[in-house]
Amino acid sequence: MAPVQLRSTPRRTRLLLVAVICIFFVWLHPSSNLFGLDPHDIRFLNFGLRPTPDVLRYVDPLIGTANGGHVFPGATLPYGMAKAVADTQSPAENAAGFVSDNNPVLGFSHMHDSGTGGHPSLGNFPLFVHPGCPDDDFKQCKFHLMERPTDRVNGSVIASPGYFSINLTNTVRAEMTATQHAVLYRFGFNGSATVDVATTADEPVISGVPYSPLVLVDLSDLMNSRSAGGIQVYPDDGRIIGEGKYAPSFGTGSYNAFFCADFQGATIRRTGTFQGDKAEEEPKFLDGSKPEFYVPSGSAGAWIQFEPPQDNTLLARVGVSFMSVDQACENAEREIPDWSFDRIERAARRAWHEKLSAIEVDATGVSEELLTTFWSGLYRSLLSPQNYTGENPLWNSTEPYYDSFYCIWDSFRAQHPLLTIIDPVAQTEMVRALIDIYRHEGKLPDCRMSFCKGYTQGGSNADVVIADAYIKHLREDINWTTAYEAVVSDAEVEPPNWGVEGRGNLVSWHSLGYIPWDDTDRNGTGPASRTISRGVEYAYDDFCISQLASALGHPADAAKYARRGGNWRNYWNPDQRDIHLDADGDVTQSHFVGFPQPRLVNGSFRYHRTRSCSPVQDMHSCYYDTSLDTYEGSPWLYSFFVPQDMASLITLMGGRDAFVERLRYFHESGIAYMGNEQAFLPTFQFHYAGRPGLSSYFVREYIPSLFNTSVNGLPGNDDCAMGAFSALAMMGFFPVAGQDVYLLTTPYFPEVRLRATVGGKSGWAVIKVHGFDPEGRRKYIQRARLDGREYTRNWITHDFFRNGGLLEFWVSEEEGKWGSEEGDVPPSYSPEMGRVDDELFARVDEEGRGRGLTAGSGRGT
Ligand SMILES: *[C@@H]1O[C@H](CO)[C@@H](O)[C@H](O)[C@H]1NC(C)=O
Ligand SMILES: *[C@@H]1O[C@H](CO)[C@@H](O)[C@H](O)[C@H]1NC(C)=O
Ligand SMILES: *[C@@H]1O[C@H](CO)[C@@H](O)[C@H](O)[C@H]1NC(C)=O
Ligand SMILES: *[C@@H]1O[C@H](CO)[C@@H](O)[C@H](O)[C@H]1NC(C)=O
Ligand SMILES: *[C@@H]1O[C@H](CO)[C@@H](O)[C@H](O)[C@H]1NC(C)=O
Ligand SMILES: *[C@@H]1O[C@H](CO)[C@@H](O)[C@H](O)[C@H]1NC(C)=O
Ligand SMILES: *[C@@H]1O[C@H](CO)[C@@H](O)[C@H](O)[C@H]1NC(C)=O
Ligand SMILES: *[C@@H]1O[C@H](CO)[C@@H](O)[C@H](O)[C@H]1NC(C)=O
Ligand SMILES: *[C@@H]1O[C@H](CO)[C@@H](O)[C@H](O)[C@H]1NC(C)=O
Repeated sequence: MAPVQLRSTPRRTRLLLVAVICIFFVWLHPSSNLFGLDPHDIRFLNFGLRPTPDVLRYVDPLIGTANGGHVFPGATLPYGMAKAVADTQSPAENAAGFVSDNNPVLGFSHMHDSGTGGHPSLGNFPLFVHPGCPDDDFKQCKFHLMERPTDRVNGSVIASPGYFSINLTNTVRAEMTATQHAVLYRFGFNGSATVDVATTADEPVISGVPYSPLVLVDLSDLMNSRSAGGIQVYPDDGRIIGEGKYAPSFGTGSYNAFFCADFQGATIRRTGTFQGDKAEEEPKFLDGSKPEFYVPSGSAGAWIQFEPPQDNTLLARVGVSFMSVDQACENAEREIPDWSFDRIERAARRAWHEKLSAIEVDATGVSEELLTTFWSGLYRSLLSPQNYTGENPLWNSTEPYYDSFYCIWDSFRAQHPLLTIIDPVAQTEMVRALIDIYRHEGKLPDCRMSFCKGYTQGGSNADVVIADAYIKHLREDINWTTAYEAVVSDAEVEPPNWGVEGRGNLVSWHSLGYIPWDDTDRNGTGPASRTISRGVEYAYDDFCISQLASALGHPADAAKYARRGGNWRNYWNPDQRDIHLDADGDVTQSHFVGFPQPRLVNGSFRYHRTRSCSPVQDMHSCYYDTSLDTYEGSPWLYSFFVPQDMASLITLMGGRDAFVERLRYFHESGIAYMGNEQAFLPTFQFHYAGRPGLSSYFVREYIPSLFNTSVNGLPGNDDCAMGAFSALAMMGFFPVAGQDVYLLTTPYFPEVRLRATVGGKSGWAVIKVHGFDPEGRRKYIQRARLDGREYTRNWITHDFFRNGGLLEFWVSEEEGKWGSEEGDVPPSYSPEMGRVDDELFARVDEEGRGRGLTAGSGRGT
């Protein structure tokens, strides 16, 4: 219509009007930044939506950078490969490079993982910057990674999406921002002709150091794993290129990485290379020809010394690649052609804002603290897996490639289901990448980092991710024939090394229905421990495969895997008592009876302490090298891992009341450890006993007391999963991964809006709380309505997020009856017991153990 009207106005006015309208639309466009406005500030022009505050204001990347959170707080894009931060010399804590402690800074590096356990990850090719060298003699500068560490200026760290900066006591300030495969650093200098340089508290201050910045690039990585490499500096233009071969931080094999660094802002004075702490102007090229070069912990690299930069800032642009030096240079040149720090930072903020705009909350009355916990958790959920598409040296493929699945054991429960809702495009690419890994490596990964196979902690949980994707309609572009082949391979074919892929003890799993403690596994090798935790996970994985089989039209398979999905029962020793030591060290027992226990080939149970590997007993005895039968958690914890058949579990535990008492006890006795992902679902499993209010209650016990905004505000490694847990819980729903089920609890906001993935209806899935109480006292849902109709189920399906809709809650201070009827609880799938299983239980009966409902009846003994 507009052009027609324009025709009747004079030409000059017409042009003017066109110009004004163009500017208006450019200004409206989310990727424009005219007049320096952030696009989200003008959202009110998006008619119909309420104004959204600048949510990036509530992202604090430093949460979880102390006390084991291992969060990466540096500059990056969503799923970005380039991740820049200052690396600190913090033993056992610097898995992601930076730690909020008092340890000195080793350098600034360009690739990291976030929230992981294992060894420190990546951190290859750190830069370090000296403002000048004593006596203007470059040989007196510190080069070695054990010599050069320098304290940070207390309180100088600034971190926000796409930006990180820190001041060192040597007077250098380092700022950094990132694109997908490159980093732009801006180093700021004091500007005086001479400066007083402090390194660490135990070293004397060096006075009067002449201003002439020296930048070095070290071929080291964070875990000192380099086993080969080379570096070259070009004295004319100052470009430094290099490569190295390194080890993955929680896996086998090795990977190669490449970088390309350029500098701008100052005139080059001299260049050279260094080995250890010894720097020379010649040669300009280093490789394995000098023996000490290969010592893994030995620093080696190249350096450039500059004249004082004119405006006291020096830019360094570093491209990275896993393909070649050439590709590293191309990445940098393509993504940062203009060297504009502000433009790159703005683009990064825009990318983050766009991702987070899938969610809106009404923040009325909600504290800054809770908003920050919420948005920061969402932000962290988008750090990894990393999009390495185009950077995979292992095979040529038109499929996407993602890496840093670190590990799926951690991420399948909350993070991937969250991405499925807020970024289905990325989640689809991740699933395709997993399937492509199967295509080329022969198995799906459970853990994968830096192009290497990582250690499998439990089951083959990629099976859950794949089933979840199908159930939630991420169908486009995914080859379901190959996907199904991949999960069936996990279930049927034992790989030679099941420590890094697939499953172990499969012959027994198929014939006996459990992993015997004394199994003789001739088909493959792997750590022959964790028989209980692997077993309950294999059972759930098989259940998920059965769902996929059924959907894809393989009824016989569906029945077979549904039966195996019942194998969790084979671990259940109905007589096992909960023996433990009390506070005085005396042997005692709770009144709970019946726990999963290890089993021998002949069917007998073996005793395993019910509380081992929990905060109250032997907390640290169940890591990957454990000889025990559970992984990073107790039999108590794993007794609840039956998401496929909670109804049978509840019966086995003695009925609803006994189950609720047991689950409460688990949370209140100190046995539950929220720092690991297996504890997420048990926070919500009260739903299955018709007590959704207790799930709401326990969510509020944990958030914010264990998930908050301090640098130690996470109870364990983030794994990009802790943030997903807190974000989901605060929005009022938690996924049962692998099923079309979300458990409903009271949100922390009066209203939450999620952009519907398909559109439909309003285009948004809206959760609205009537009678919302910012203090959280009205934490119980009394009544619910879905799209205007009364809703008594305590769970919803994915349709809500796909199509949009309106879910309304009325909340109160008292736990009511809502969601408590038999028909209100989420589904349970009870397969008919397999033949072998029946035999086993018969044998148990013969032994006089009985298979009765023991938890209730055993009370008080
Ligand atoms: C920073 O503060 C800590 C104490 O909080 C202190 O130990 C450390 O020396 C300080 N560092 C500097 C560079 O002042
Ligand atoms: C860090 O350095 C910048 C630039 O020199 C300066 O403006 C800022 O105040 C410093 N921060 C601290 C905490 O010293
Ligand atoms: C530069 O450093 C000197 C001491 O080394 C200090 O006195 C001076 O204030 C600093 N100048 C700036 C601009 O920070
Ligand atoms: C991928 O294709 C390129 C170009 O044909 C070839 O040079 C390269 O070796 C291939 N890479 C692999 C891992 O097959
Ligand atoms: C992943 O990277 C590829 C190649 O750069 C790009 O085409 C794709 O859009 C990226 N995916 C996401 C979700 O950003
Ligand atoms: C899916 O992969 C199979 C091989 O596993 C192939 O035969 C089939 O053509 C693929 N389907 C599509 C739609 O690409
Ligand atoms: C175990 O190895 C045997 C002999 O090679 C083979 O026939 C069987 O299929 C394998 N079983 C599994 C579950 O991988
Ligand atoms: C199974 O073997 C163990 C250890 O050899 C033995 O103590 C137990 O009695 C056996 N159980 C059965 C049912 O044979
Ligand atoms: C924040 O969380 C941490 C880790 O879970 C916890 O130790 C700390 O007590 C919490 N802080 C507050 C103020 O709740």
